[in-house]
Amino acid sequence: MDDLLSLKKAFLDEISSVSDLTGLQNIRTKYSGKKGLVTSKLKALSSIPPDERPLYGSTLNEIKNFIEETLKNKEILLKENEKEKRLQTEKIDITLPGKFTPFGREHPINQVLSEIKDIFVSMGFSIEEGPEVELDYYNFEALNIPRHHPARDMQDTFYVSDDVVLRTHTSPVQVRVMEKKKPPLKIIAPGKVYRCDADISHTPMFHQVEGLMVDTEISFSDLKGVLELFIHSFFGKNTPVRFRPSYFPFTEPSAEVDIGCIFCAGKGCRVCKTTGWLEVLGCGMVNPKVFEMSGYMPDEYTGFAFGMGVERMTMLKYSIDDIRLFYENDLRFLKQF
Ligand code: PHE
Repeated sequence: MDDLLSLKKAFLDEISSVSDLTGLQNIRTKYSGKKGLVTSKLKALSSIPPDERPLYGSTLNEIKNFIEETLKNKEILLKENEKEKRLQTEKIDITLPGKFTPFGREHPINQVLSEIKDIFVSMGFSIEEGPEVELDYYNFEALNIPRHHPARDMQDTFYVSDDVVLRTHTSPVQVRVMEKKKPPLKIIAPGKVYRCDADISHTPMFHQVEGLMVDTEISFSDLKGVLELFIHSFFGKNTPVRFRPSYFPFTEPSAEVDIGCIFCAGKGCRVCKTTGWLEVLGCGMVNPKVFEMSGYMPDEYTGFAFGMGVERMTMLKYSIDDIRLFYENDLRFLKQF
């Protein structure tokens, strides 16, 4: 019987000092495992003299139950403790202030681009796109600007190779669309263009919106009507508009469109160079040679085209005097729009 009492005492000593679940598991194996101390005592029961056996047996049984019960209770306690500890250490303080993420907003150029698109879409134009890395053929040749034509000097070109350029205007989209689609056509082509030029009014990348309308009876008065409506929607109903003769190889006749200077109301100032007028876009009737190269019969169709710079439109609309401000990422500037 003494061995049973010391077994129980040893167990109690161990269990009272254990502080984690792995330690507890070791004690469980040591006492009530298959080869544990209690189990081997049960197996050895037959070697106890028969007259002592009933008392020895029932005491051993009590100890066995006691050990199992105690292990179970201790396990519950330890699990509870561990959970408590985790809750303490893994606690999230939801009262801490969050990380501030400032709201972004649309770039002024994109705002104006959307506004321009909306005006033309409301007049029934659809939107087309073309590549920014363009073949010399579409950027120049098919627009009636052959290789050694002096008009190439009007645009300082970034050449990628002999036949490939960064498009210097959105006009190549005219040709790409005409190659794919038959008239009637009524499209605008917004996008980035590139010229090797940088100063207060030029950036190497800027945006243009091209326009093209082709059908059997399109006349210069359609061109005037569409562009006047556009300018009045964009700059305001009372803005004076005039068409001034000009030259582009891909339109004939060609014109430049001016609006009454919005800085001096036409009186003459530094911005309009005392003329009272500001140039806003180029346009004209599509040159029959361009139709021919695009696969249209020049005696069957007429059309007009126009092209405008989005940065310039934005500068005029918001009285900005330096184009570089758009691309310096100064939030104090950008936040004003
Ligand atoms: N592509 C011309 C430019 O970039 C603008 C233009 C477009 C003129 C269409 C006439 C017709 O200057």
